[in-house]
Amino acid sequence: MKGVILAAGQGTRLRPVTLTMPKPLVPVANKPLIGYALDVLKSAGIDEIAIIVNDLSSPVAGAIGDGAAYGVRVEYIVQEKQLGLAHAIGMSQPFVGDEPFCVLLGDNIFQDKMTSLLKSFPESKVESTIALIEVPDPERFGVAVVDNGKIVRLMEKPNPAPTNLAISGAYLFRKSIFDAIANIKPSKRGELEITDAIQYLVESGQPVSPYVLQGWWIDAGKPDAIIQANQLVMGDMPYTPPPNGASMIVGKCDISHRVIIGEGTQIIDSVIRGPVIIGNNVTIRNSFVGPYSAIGDNVIIESSEIDSSIVMKNCTVRHIEGRIDASLMADNSTLTSDGHVPASHRFILAENSYVQL
Ligand code: DAU
Repeated sequence: MKGVILAAGQGTRLRPVTLTMPKPLVPVANKPLIGYALDVLKSAGIDEIAIIVNDLSSPVAGAIGDGAAYGVRVEYIVQEKQLGLAHAIGMSQPFVGDEPFCVLLGDNIFQDKMTSLLKSFPESKVESTIALIEVPDPERFGVAVVDNGKIVRLMEKPNPAPTNLAISGAYLFRKSIFDAIANIKPSKRGELEITDAIQYLVESGQPVSPYVLQGWWIDAGKPDAIIQANQLVMGDMPYTPPPNGASMIVGKCDISHRVIIGEGTQIIDSVIRGPVIIGNNVTIRNSFVGPYSAIGDNVIIESSEIDSSIVMKNCTVRHIEGRIDASLMADNSTLTSDGHVPASHRFILAENSYVQL
């Protein structure tokens, strides 16, 4: 079994973050988005993986390299023009050969690692399995109709949608999909749709089974979805006791459990409420960092309050009045004001208290 990750998109929906950084490298809980797809494949024992990129000089190839840091072997396939998911998957044929394979979209995060599904697929009797999930807004996705345990129809972003079962970005195929891709035409939006190729398999009588995902799933294409993904991933962080260490924690600090602090980082006179991840060589002084915040390497936070936000590497936040909430700061950004230091409040309030500040 091999793995293919699609990461050749332009990331236009995630601008301005993706003006300088490809979407697969946007950090969620301080790990690049594409790292989550690599982890899914690795946990199922799939260690031969191709990543589809739009250019060999893509920063994705620079960051993931040969995959050794993820315990897998990665090679790159260039899709110069983004002609659709089916076109991208078709390009992986020489890499995949005759083996069954799993395709993951590089901007999706799955709480369900699908390990037993991925491990059992090669011996299964089906030609393909598609991961589905119930969503409230199926019109935004590919949608599947399931009957008697089989997928009988698939449509790309239908309006109205006949079911609320969205096609998530996890697909299991055999080599028959390449023949199907060769037989489809571009859709109305001008792309070769993988949904149409799977529909071709269904119409030619091949069994295509649904797999309904457990837990949450995020198509992290937009800034709000990235922040939501960050919260969901950090919500799954296991308990760790409050960190301590004289060189790391200085002055009067209050640091809760589920706080991960990187090397060379100093927390000075600050409050950190987990789950929080803080990278290496970070300085946090006279500040509050609240739950679901991910702080990248070499960040400086002074006299500020941050909650549920992603602050990427080399950013500076100084003297910001009021709380920074559900925000996304891309690499090397600075947020500052002219010297105001916010007051801090601590309350232990009995039932039925009323406080107005
Ligand atoms: O997220 C799930 C949805 O993904 C499914 O429900 C849809 O059926 C499926 O078509 C797809 O829809 P999107 O419109 O969200 O796909 P998007 O264009 O965002 O591309 C998904 C990923 O694939 C993204 O990481 C970029 C990559 N890609 C995309 C195209 C069009 C490629 O590598 N090459 C391509 O040609």
